[in-house]
This record gives sequence, structure tokens and C-alpha cells, in this order.
Amino acid sequence: MKPKRGHGCNDLIREHGPFVAKSAALFVFSLCLSFLYSLPVSQSVYRLGILGSGKGSNMVAIAEACAAGKIPAQLGVVLSDVADAGILQHAERFGVPFAHIAPGKYRTKLDEEAELAYIRKLIETKVDLIVLAGFMRILKGEFLKAFANRVVNIHPSLLPAFPGLEAWKQALDHGVKVTGCTVHFIDQGVDSGPIIAQQTVPVLEDDTPETLHARIQGAERELYPKVVGALAEGRIVVKGRQTLWR
Ligand code: GRF
Repeated sequence: MKPKRGHGCNDLIREHGPFVAKSAALFVFSLCLSFLYSLPVSQSVYRLGILGSGKGSNMVAIAEACAAGKIPAQLGVVLSDVADAGILQHAERFGVPFAHIAPGKYRTKLDEEAELAYIRKLIETKVDLIVLAGFMRILKGEFLKAFANRVVNIHPSLLPAFPGLEAWKQALDHGVKVTGCTVHFIDQGVDSGPIIAQQTVPVLEDDTPETLHARIQGAERELYPKVVGALAEGRIVVKGRQTLWR
């Protein structure tokens, strides 16, 4: 009697040859994929979260410096409290994840719910540093607790002179001969955290608020990427009110 054919591997391969081989290859491939996805992600790339309310020229300078390898970091997310802010359009152009998160019921700060939404998003995107680039909301309390010493801002004057709004106008009205911009850590006060770096610009006799502001913004686009690069490289140490460059 002819022995009944079994269904061992060899028989299957003989019977369904190419189909079995393809399925086996796919099975091995999906096993490899699931193994890769289950590996713990070691986040070696330093990630930036940028918050802004305006046109986003500082964000562009930072994104270009990252792309050129001048800042050893990548943009993790760009967030704005203004739905149609230029900064979000730039984020889209650079292929960076972005979101509008409404600020809630207050005019100058985020309400509790909005603040939590920002915190959640920044934690979710695993950012190492939060870079404020024209973000027009005061950040306090829970936000600063969540990201202590990890939030920086650029201000358009040589702090502590002329904190607050329209600092270039304040400088012009005061009659100073030199002004500039300051990158600083954020603390509980307004533009009062430890200063990381400053860059000066001259105030010219025929300056208008617009020409002076444009000159300061030119300096900002040079200074901010340098400072963010140094932070990403771990070269800045905070010691009380002082910051030390290494
Ligand atoms: C900058 O000039 C900065 O000094 C201030 O907000 C402005 C933002 O400009 N904090 P942009 O949106 O980066 O062009």
C-alpha cells in the first residue's frame, strides 16, 4: 500500500513551493519588525520644542542651523497659541510636527487646561529643551516645574534693561546708543531669568522703531542658534544667577 502522504515541511514546500517560501519570508520579516519596534528607544538625538506666536524668523534660523549640522539637535515639535501664525507654516515647510494649542480664557497667559495641554504635548514628543521664539504668553507655575532650567527665551534688548513689550521702542525712547538681544533661561518673573548670552547692536541717529527692530532681529538670528547649539552640546552650566560656558 502506498504510504499516505504527510504534511511535513518538505511536502508543503514541494506542493506549494513559491507560495510557502514567500509566506515564510514575510513571517520572518514581520517578526524582525515587531522585534525592532519593541526595543526600548534610546533617544540619542537632542530634541527641541519651539513655542511661538508670530512670524517665526528665529525658528527658521534654528531649523536651518539644525539642518546644516551647526546645532546637534532636531526639531521635535513646534507649538503656537495662534492658529494662523507664520511659525506653524514654517514648521510645515520644514516637515516638523506642529500644533496649534488654544491658550484658553486669559489674554497674557495660558489657562490651567491649556498649560497642561502644552506640557503633555512637550512630554509626549520627548523634547530636551523648550525654545521660546516670540511666544506671547507668560509661562509660570506648573510649566516651569515640569521643565525646570530647560526653557529659554530671546528678548530684544540687553536685559535687565527694557524688559516687557516693544523693548526696541523703549530703547529708542530712552536714547541709548547701544542695545541688542539677550538669550536667557525662563524663571517666574518677566524676562528676569539667568542670562546665557547677549549680542549688541548700535542705535543710529536716524533709526525708527522699525529699523532698530530689524537690526536687533538680525542679531537674534545669529545669537539664538549659537546658544541653542551650546545647550545641545551640554556646554552651558547654570550656577545660581550665573551661567558658565564650557
Ligand atoms: C523676536 O524678535 C524676539 O525678540 C521676541 O519675539 C520676536 C519673535 O520673532 N521674543 P519671530 O517670530 O522669531 O520672527
